Amino acid sequence: MNKAFDLIIFGGMGDLSKKKLLPALYSGWLAGHFHPDTRIFLTSRRAPDQSMKEWLQDIFSQYKPARSVTEERLNGFCEHVEFITLDLMHGCENWQKLHERLTIDGQDRIVTSFLAIPPSLFTSVCSLLDKHGINTPNCRVVLEKPLGHDLESAKKINAEVAQYFSEEQTFRIDHYLGKEAVQNLLALRFSNIIFEKLWDSSTIDHVQITIAEDMGLKGRDAYYDDSGALRDMVQNHLLQLLCLVAMEPPARMDGDSIREEKLKVLKSLEPMTNELVKKTVVRGQYVAGAVNGEPAGGYADDLNLKSSSSTESFVAIRASIQNWRWANVPFYLRTGKRLADRFAEIVIQFKDIPHHADPEWTGGALQPNRFIIRLQPDDKLVMSMMVKNHSVDDGSLKEVELDLDVTDDKRVGPYMRLILAATRGDHSLFVHREEVEYAWQWIDSIIEAWQSGKGGTLFPYQAGSWGPYEAHDLINREGRQWFHES
Ligand code: BG6
Repeated sequence: MNKAFDLIIFGGMGDLSKKKLLPALYSGWLAGHFHPDTRIFLTSRRAPDQSMKEWLQDIFSQYKPARSVTEERLNGFCEHVEFITLDLMHGCENWQKLHERLTIDGQDRIVTSFLAIPPSLFTSVCSLLDKHGINTPNCRVVLEKPLGHDLESAKKINAEVAQYFSEEQTFRIDHYLGKEAVQNLLALRFSNIIFEKLWDSSTIDHVQITIAEDMGLKGRDAYYDDSGALRDMVQNHLLQLLCLVAMEPPARMDGDSIREEKLKVLKSLEPMTNELVKKTVVRGQYVAGAVNGEPAGGYADDLNLKSSSSTESFVAIRASIQNWRWANVPFYLRTGKRLADRFAEIVIQFKDIPHHADPEWTGGALQPNRFIIRLQPDDKLVMSMMVKNHSVDDGSLKEVELDLDVTDDKRVGPYMRLILAATRGDHSLFVHREEVEYAWQWIDSIIEAWQSGKGGTLFPYQAGSWGPYEAHDLINREGRQWFHES
């Protein structure tokens, strides 16, 4: 059983809280991950007109938790949750009341403040937490992305938070690190000898990491149009996945050791010059098409704010890691909105065998091995292998997939897992300040190339397709292809 803790969600009535945090907390509570004394405080400028129960009922009817909601369960969950009205810019009486409710002094109870608010409010909230004594060694702060818009703004956020909370107390969330399959990637790599021995340029041909989404802007136009796919998805989720695939085995499976190894990968990324961006980065924006058989408008139609924009909703990158292990192994990264399907996966494509002894024996079907870590919609680990084609029994071979489905309804979702880890003080699933900054440095060089006009143009792609033609060309011209496109 986890220890009792107090969780304060700043932005308690905001989008992230409603869509992700509360459904995750409800399911986690039902699955028995809460100590009976755990409390959740939802802060907002003003409390809703409904009771907590009615409010949660409304939320859970829109954003369904993984586990079903019943009257009795809702009553039970409500006992752990309360509203607290707070002005996040100015200290007020309620900040003092919050401190009193938390009973911090002389207790070893953990208090986790989850900042599900825009980063422009981070400093104010951290200073008010400090002012009201909510930053003792038992207090932690969890920061949700976006952590900056570029290196400079990220440094500013990190420095401002650091005035009040040490790195030890600070937990920067990347919810992809809380996904089940990502956890499994670490387990597989570092607890099975067979993977580590094969995990380098002598056996791996290339790596593909894709996070594809079929939906559009989902009403987040202002944020998204200001960010684009590169800042929204690559700077954090895709680079974090790349780090986990490419990092050296850590000396220990603790936060410091894992983050140290991830940082080395970020430092080894080939620097992006204007010429390299033009050659190895493709950006696109969707135009009208059809997604899953339904007509879908273009990016400009989805923007409520303005009628045109040069923000990318798709990006594909051929990245290189300049170290001994990964020399000449391309890492193809790809993400986009309004693509043909929603899925996320990492494909480790092994090399062909060195000598084909007898083409007739293989029936022409010999395929190099492939290892797939599927993150969504389902959690799967799939290893493709060649075996004897027993159905024909002429001695030929065929490709089969060893398929391990690790989907489990009972397990805890990414946000619950990350909140529990922060509460335990476990940094291994969180991003260090330096990682954020090195990732921004690399991303900034791509954006600078685009802005200078020397980094290639923005290509259109049809909603419901797999991105612009140029993204296919990026990989096809090297004799390879994106794996998941059917
Ligand atoms: C968020 C991005 O970080 O991740 C969104 O801001 C994106 O634009 C989302 O839709 C994808 O997360 P998931 O877990 O649904 O793949």
